Amino acid sequence: FEVNLPQTVQVKKGSCVTVPCSFDIRSEYNGNLNDTCEARWVFNPSLTPQLTETNPVTGILTRKNCTTTFNDMQPHHNKAYNFRLECKNDLKYTFTNKKVIFKVTDDFPSPTLTPSTLTVKEGESVSLTCSAPAPCLPHTPTLTWTPTMGDIHETIQENQDKTKFKTSVLNFTASQHHHGQKISCTAAYKKQDGSPDGSFTTSLIILDISQILHSSNCIKTSNQLNCSCETVGNPLPTTHWYLNGQPVDQSSQVVVTNEPLNGSHDRDLSTLLCFSSNSFGSTSKQ
Ligand SMILES: *[C@@H]1O[C@H](CO)[C@@H](O)[C@H](O)[C@H]1NC(C)=O
Ligand SMILES: *[C@@H]1O[C@H](CO)[C@@H](O)[C@H](O)[C@H]1NC(C)=O
Ligand SMILES: *[C@@H]1O[C@H](CO)[C@@H](O)[C@H](O)[C@H]1NC(C)=O
Ligand SMILES: *[C@@H]1O[C@H](CO)[C@@H](O)[C@H](O)[C@H]1NC(C)=O
Ligand SMILES: *[C@@H]1O[C@H](CO)[C@@H](O)[C@H](O)[C@H]1NC(C)=O
Repeated sequence: FEVNLPQTVQVKKGSCVTVPCSFDIRSEYNGNLNDTCEARWVFNPSLTPQLTETNPVTGILTRKNCTTTFNDMQPHHNKAYNFRLECKNDLKYTFTNKKVIFKVTDDFPSPTLTPSTLTVKEGESVSLTCSAPAPCLPHTPTLTWTPTMGDIHETIQENQDKTKFKTSVLNFTASQHHHGQKISCTAAYKKQDGSPDGSFTTSLIILDISQILHSSNCIKTSNQLNCSCETVGNPLPTTHWYLNGQPVDQSSQVVVTNEPLNGSHDRDLSTLLCFSSNSFGSTSKQ
């Protein structure tokens, strides 16, 4: 006779919890496992078996599924419970190989955000994952992203001990406007005892938009070129202009003429190059 239970289950005071549970019995008792069987949760196997006070809802016992949802958990449920099978025949058994310990608390682990810090480049696609325990299957937490942006995809996943958690994946494309942006994920849990819903937030700040952007624009007249070069980045990039490989200016706007320089050959205006760099790298555009 064996039962499979998670060792400990965390639950927020006043909310519900679903305990995944399965069991097995010796085959000669299979015929006894029928609709007359009931699940009991007892906190001391040596005492007279007693039903937990919380009105459990059970899975299908005849399929050896004793999954139970306990409602409105309170601190006095902080005990270790054994599962007991009671059928209106010879099959009456308290499973002792495993017990489940409830940890009813007022606070709850904040949702986890991965990655926990974020350094991105302009135009990069970013994927953030927020996960929060989902202790009660009928009432999974609501996960909200602040600010609202990008595409969101939610799933319920299972831990190794069969307890569940909810994840929300947020995808968006980074732009320089996101530099220093705080992104938060909030998990809100419904309460059944009339107290306010519990909500927990984890945040991260986008650290750097490191890419240097170029948009260059030139106005050409018969003998001169008036060019601007826009660079965006963090840290702020510096701009240099080169003509025939020689530095000519150090601002975002440059005006160059094709007049021969000091008697040497004509300047080739097509070689005008905007070069910008910061600590993350550099780019240039002709
Ligand atoms: C349950 O099993 C017992 C013993 O095998 C049997 O006497 C009883 O009639 C069964 N009840 C139902 C509802 O199948
Ligand atoms: C047991 O029942 C629960 C519902 O109470 C269900 O979610 C779960 O998938 C079942 N487990 C198995 C192994 O069938
Ligand atoms: C989010 O991005 C990940 C990784 O880039 C991708 O696998 C997933 O399909 C995307 N999901 C949505 C909803 O866009
Ligand atoms: C170069 O162009 C900018 C606008 O594109 C203008 O404001 C500026 O006066 C021009 N400079 C010269 C020397 O033509
Ligand atoms: C022109 O060339 C002479 C000598 O070759 C040099 O002394 C002078 O500085 C140059 N002028 C400029 C504007 O580059």
